[in-house]
Amino acid sequence: MEVPSIAREAVRPAAHRLLVCPPDHYRIAYEINPWMRLERAADPHVARVQWDALIAMLEKECGAMLERVEPAAGLPDMVFTANAGVVTGRSVILSRFRCPERQPEEEQFARWFEDHGYAAVRLPRELFFEGAGDLLDGREVWFGGHGQRSDIRAYRYLGSLEGRDIIPLKLVDPRFYHLDTCLCPLTGGEVLWFPGGFDRSGRAAIRDLVPPSGRIEVPEEEALRFACNAVCLGRHIVMPEGCPDTMAKLEAHGYRAHAVCLSEFIKAGGAAKCLTLALPG
Ligand code: ARG
Repeated sequence: MEVPSIAREAVRPAAHRLLVCPPDHYRIAYEINPWMRLERAADPHVARVQWDALIAMLEKECGAMLERVEPAAGLPDMVFTANAGVVTGRSVILSRFRCPERQPEEEQFARWFEDHGYAAVRLPRELFFEGAGDLLDGREVWFGGHGQRSDIRAYRYLGSLEGRDIIPLKLVDPRFYHLDTCLCPLTGGEVLWFPGGFDRSGRAAIRDLVPPSGRIEVPEEEALRFACNAVCLGRHIVMPEGCPDTMAKLEAHGYRAHAVCLSEFIKAGGAAKCLTLALPG
């Protein structure tokens, strides 16, 4: 049967640019979140196969255009480019990592952005900020996760600098240590979220800003499989496998949900969204 053109239109890939970092040096080399265990090593070959499959999914199924930053030896978490910073047009707000293990990534990412013509904004020295892991664009407002890695004061600074409202959301569960592990704003204005990641006023803020029909709640067992760590490109959503309830809810909202196996990256506390950084504009 002929598919009505409106349905085809709804899933047609559009151009979305993303920054990724190949997993050449990816491994579990330290423990900086509850997911990481030195004795639970990531298999480098499996990690590479999984990363390649994620990339193929993004490029071939979802119309993404990928930019690659050169991986650096000794910086295994550089694969998680979401933490490089936040890009707005031709400028980037660079991250300042809380954990010393990741701080040397700052200059690697800064160099990539400078080489690619971005104007770099740096926060005052004393403020920690972990980029698009913690600052998410909810269209009307930005959401800023704090309490684990980024400082709430970074959002006061960035909000006035960028002229944007940033709604601070306190993260209370160490397993959900970056905002993108328990919240994912979607293109249609909905949010995918795990309420258990937030304190009472964070939950109230999200309920206040997003109408009930737009709040897609993820059950705990799927939140623990990183269901919220999804990449939303137009009507396409790429997420880790093992999240059938979330996928069904997304499909009911008109999205095309794609599952990928990212077990080796979940060992470091990251999944699909953490492995990408949006380069809008
Ligand atoms: N091992 C990394 C860390 O703890 C994982 C980062 C995941 N990134 C994210 N945007 N959630 O920093």
